[in-house]
Amino acid sequence: MHTVTIALPSAPYEVVIADGLMDHVGREARLLFPQGVRCAVVTDRTVAPLYADRVEASLRDAGWTPHRCTVPAGEPSKSFAGLEDVTRSMIRAGLDRRALVIALGGGVVGDLAGFAASVFFRGIPYLGIPTTILSMVDSSVGGKTGINTPEGKNLIGTFHQPRRVLIDPESAASLPDSAYAEGFAEIIKHAAIRDAGMLDDIARFAKSRVGLSPLIARNVAIKGTIVAADEFETEGLRALLNFGHTLGHAVEACAGYGTLLHGEAISIGMRAALWLSERHAGLSPQESLTILNALRAFDLPTILPQSISDDAILEKMGRDKKFDQGALRFVLLPKLGDAVVSQSVTLDDVRAVLGHLRSPLA
Ligand SMILES: NC(=O)c1ccc[n+]([C@@H]2O[C@H](COP(=O)([O-])OP(=O)(O)OC[C@H]3O[C@@H](n4cnc5c(N)ncnc54)[C@H](O)[C@@H]3O)[C@@H](O)[C@H]2O)c1
Ligand SMILES: [Zn+2]
Repeated sequence: MHTVTIALPSAPYEVVIADGLMDHVGREARLLFPQGVRCAVVTDRTVAPLYADRVEASLRDAGWTPHRCTVPAGEPSKSFAGLEDVTRSMIRAGLDRRALVIALGGGVVGDLAGFAASVFFRGIPYLGIPTTILSMVDSSVGGKTGINTPEGKNLIGTFHQPRRVLIDPESAASLPDSAYAEGFAEIIKHAAIRDAGMLDDIARFAKSRVGLSPLIARNVAIKGTIVAADEFETEGLRALLNFGHTLGHAVEACAGYGTLLHGEAISIGMRAALWLSERHAGLSPQESLTILNALRAFDLPTILPQSISDDAILEKMGRDKKFDQGALRFVLLPKLGDAVVSQSVTLDDVRAVLGHLRSPLA
């Protein structure tokens, strides 16, 4: 078992990581809420049949009365309609301000359930049980909750920290290969910006999903340290987590949401950021290769699809206001494990890197 403390000055909390933890959720919740009785288990239609019965059995054993709210799997549930479904179902079930929310699923469920908890009866506590690699190492830590609107992703939301995050790495066993691999894009991102040593034996997890706990803990600690130092994204530190995301987000959107998985688009974005780091920050080609090889080990894409034009990407970046008076804010690496926010990347550099992204890896 690993425990990582997220040392937020206002509300520190623990992330517990252990194989089989899914069967001990009730006990963990009881430790935090000795008097608690009612809770909502918010989950989606894919995760529910896999894990919800186990989680609810453990809750009942510990004296809780769970109420299940199941939303359709996928991004559309992160919406006002999804929020309405979850919160009204909780009201109809008689839950009130003494209730606890348990978010059981990937980042979609985490963001939606966390947001629901933050507004239900003006705010009740929640626990996260992230079940995708991406949500274990990224979205479940940091307290950003929210939903999408047709105008854009994550535009409506709150900062609402979970009271505890319970990670059962064995739940990664049921992930489709592509969802498993895309989570490693964020792990490789963490390695690139903070902890290059993590890459030493990362490739073995492309072949085996056993023994993930220490790796997950290492990643939670990286994200946790950054968010604890910059809880509300005011210090600029959290921006370092955007390594590969400046271009990656544009690639993701231009491909059409759902065509390229987020982590796949970020993989392409990281290749771009490495190339720019070599030219603007002093990263060596050898160091770039270390990251590219890690992406390759997980079969993550590094070539910009032909269907996406340079103009579409530039237009998207312009619309996202990524250009600040002609200069772009890019997270670059002076060396592996060390990231800075740079304003030295020009529009011409972006055009050049888009050309580079059309070619296969050497
Ligand atoms: N709050 C934050 O700080 C933050 C950070 C990064 C991403 N996000 C958000 O996270 C979301 C993406 O998260 P995600 O990639 O986990 O997507 P997701 O929640 O949609 O999960 C991906 C798919 O995997 C399924 N699934 C989940 N766990 C499974 C398991 N153990 N076995 C089998 N199938 C499983 C889900 O049902 C879904 O179909 C996006 O909405 C993004 O905006 C939030
Ligand atoms: Zn990301």
